Amino acid sequence: MSENISVLGLGLMGTALAKSLLAAGHQVTVWNRTPAKADPLVAEGAKQAATPAAAVAASELVIACLLDSRSVTATLEGAELRGRVIANLTTSRPVEAREIAALVTERGGDHLAGGIMAIPQMIATPGALILYSGSKAAYDRYEQALSAMARPQYTGADPAMAPLLDLAMLTGMYGQMAGFLEAAALVRSAGYPLRDFTSGLLVPWLNAMAAQQPAWAEKMESGDHGTDVSNLEINRSGVANLVRAFHEQGVRPDLLLPMQEILERRVARGLAHEGLSGLVEELVSD
Ligand SMILES: NC(=O)c1ccc[n+]([C@@H]2O[C@H](COP(=O)([O-])OP(=O)(O)OC[C@H]3O[C@@H](n4cnc5c(N)ncnc54)[C@H](OP(=O)(O)O)[C@@H]3O)[C@@H](O)[C@H]2O)c1
Repeated sequence: MSENISVLGLGLMGTALAKSLLAAGHQVTVWNRTPAKADPLVAEGAKQAATPAAAVAASELVIACLLDSRSVTATLEGAELRGRVIANLTTSRPVEAREIAALVTERGGDHLAGGIMAIPQMIATPGALILYSGSKAAYDRYEQALSAMARPQYTGADPAMAPLLDLAMLTGMYGQMAGFLEAAALVRSAGYPLRDFTSGLLVPWLNAMAAQQPAWAEKMESGDHGTDVSNLEINRSGVANLVRAFHEQGVRPDLLLPMQEILERRVARGLAHEGLSGLVEELVSD
């Protein structure tokens, strides 16, 4: 079914989103602060709105993909939001998502917050995922249209949920990157070919270890951190050994040190018998 859809923001991601909606046969209206960025999309059949308010007026579904939450709030200023669904795919903190949801609903609109788990080149390909939270009615109404951009997944009525899960996924990615960087620095110090190490050894190992994570997640949910794999004392000693080896190889263990610190802290509480899942308890703020 062809829908009228407006896209606010034609940066790298907004352009990819607008293109995918056009390709799926929707009537797309676009607005960008720098108007010339709309030219290629207009050539493909998009209508260009002169102002954000005109873009919002053109379609019931409005997708915002801007720099940050502040630019979203500023862009929506003065637009008539009554009867509109604002799907904000701008990366936001959970608190910001709640603020924008409140602003939209106070002005008579409906709101979805989104978290894009893709780069622009992945949009409209099978690997792309966009997480949504907020109005279930709006999601159900537009699920099919949204699926032109990426596989959509609804994560709950709290508008903060999709942005929070987005940040959690990024956190997992940065953690993995931290491990990769340290491992690469260590391997480089010994002159072993990094490409062989990465594709032949590290990636299969990380995949095998990642397969353990659902079992650890169950332990975190149950609060039972007993282990028949390896306890915290073994891990504390193992990470201390790693840090020592790094120094001996002339490599800085900077990204490993926080892991060492948290292991030491947990063991010092008398919980050396627990497994690694117990470390999650150390991450709760006072
Ligand atoms: N690129 C990715 O791989 C990726 C992946 C996931 C999520 N995202 C998220 O998608 C959003 C957009 O990213 P992007 O890669 O498209 O960034 P980008 O290429 O830098 O585009 C930024 C967009 O925001 C607009 N903008 C900036 N400040 C503005 C303001 N004060 N008022 C109105 N418009 C303003 C820019 O307009 P001008 O053209 O006039 O400068 C442009 O349209 C971000 O929240 C990003 O985190 C991006």
